[in-house]
Amino acid sequence: MTDKYTQFVSHGLGRNVAKKLGLPQPTILRRYEPGQPLITGPVLVQGNSAGADALAASLLSWDLDVRRHAVPREKLGAIVLVLDELDRPDDLEHPVLAAAASLRDLAPSGRVITLSRPAANSATPSQAAARQGVDGFLRSLAMELRAGATGNGILLGDGVTTTSPSALAALRFLLSGRSAYVDGQFLTVTSTEGSLPADFEKPLAGKVAVVTGAARGIGASIARTLHRDGATVVLVDIPAAGDHLAAVANEVHGTALQLDISREDAGQRIIEHAVQRHGRLDILIHNAGITRDKLLANMDHGRWSAVINVNIAAQLRINEALLASEHFRDSPRIVSLASTSGIAGNRGQTNYAASKGGVMGMVRASAPLLSERGGTINAVAPGFIETDMTAKVPLALREAGRRLNSLRQGGQPTDVAEAIAFLASDAAGGINGGVLRVCGQYMVGA
Ligand code: NAI
Repeated sequence: MTDKYTQFVSHGLGRNVAKKLGLPQPTILRRYEPGQPLITGPVLVQGNSAGADALAASLLSWDLDVRRHAVPREKLGAIVLVLDELDRPDDLEHPVLAAAASLRDLAPSGRVITLSRPAANSATPSQAAARQGVDGFLRSLAMELRAGATGNGILLGDGVTTTSPSALAALRFLLSGRSAYVDGQFLTVTSTEGSLPADFEKPLAGKVAVVTGAARGIGASIARTLHRDGATVVLVDIPAAGDHLAAVANEVHGTALQLDISREDAGQRIIEHAVQRHGRLDILIHNAGITRDKLLANMDHGRWSAVINVNIAAQLRINEALLASEHFRDSPRIVSLASTSGIAGNRGQTNYAASKGGVMGMVRASAPLLSERGGTINAVAPGFIETDMTAKVPLALREAGRRLNSLRQGGQPTDVAEAIAFLASDAAGGINGGVLRVCGQYMVGA
């Protein structure tokens, strides 16, 4: 459900009033529905490198209408800008201005996607400058796009090409309606691991996934999305949420496990349930989280420790149990919920931001442990998402949270769920130790 203001300004009278008063005019975003085309309208692939040619050829095999040169005034679904061979800052001008000439032809909810290389592993300062320039360029361009269009980038690590499995998978995710609320972000492909699914509509077929905090909000949406993508889902929540948990579990034909994740034996209980009921465990989504907001001057032990315990200490313990288990060795996937508060900070949330910063630290440090098993661990950092948690935020702050982003609206739980389903898939096997923000380019944090 889109918020009422967005619905009001999307049509007739509301649209005119908002325009006259100079009010924000959010667009109803194009979101993924099974069976719909990946993107409507031609995809313009710009860039002169061998990587650009190879990518254009791969996109043709997805039945996309691929163009290597713009046709003036033809509506475009996406502009893909391949910048994988930049050496000097001057190298940016030609491709960027070529893309600029097509921007007015971008359809509503269109996409601009760059493929470039991380500045960190550059051979020279000049190359690093050119590569880092893409970062500033893309984030600024994303702020200039209108009508639900987004701008995102893919960073190709050492040895990764434009057609490596996870580079293609990331491109597919960013082109599709699955990434509706991802804007101004970069996905780093760290290796050539990963394999594209036989069926793009069922990328999680045969997998068993555990989702914590699945009785409501983002967790329930994750359970529905993983089920839609083919996974069998184990739904975990506290006993007090048992009725809601059972209802969502029935809906997705999964099983419910009533469990407080902060219990010492939570990891063991999760493994036992998954293996006894479903024979395996492939994917763990750490979604359960709580807030106990107070200014630090008024903070007490109860509020601080409850948040740290549930949001990060429990995750560390559960990961340790799973990584020690023989049942979590076959390309396992972990995705954990961070938050933009953990990146930029948020007044009144020192405890919550410490826990969510902790999640990102944990993910980075755990990446090698997962990669030893052919697996990955990543975090998703939502911005302002419309859930029971954010419905409790005072109205003025809530409105600010909704509008202070490039898409001028809050995200939906499904937007977070789509990013998680993507990172949990085999196709994302080359993306490890990263953080993906799902925040509509929220204007706080990097
Ligand atoms: P929510 O409060 O609506 O749902 C959280 C669920 O976790 C509830 O069903 C709750 O019973 C469960 N839970 C809490 N403690 C638990 C425990 N000890 N053991 C098992 N289950 C437990 O929250 P929402 O909004 O759906 O958030 C989900 C995650 O996303 C959280 O980690 C949150 O920090 C994160 N997040 C949410 C944002 C938002 O805008 N809603 C923004 C950024 C991050």
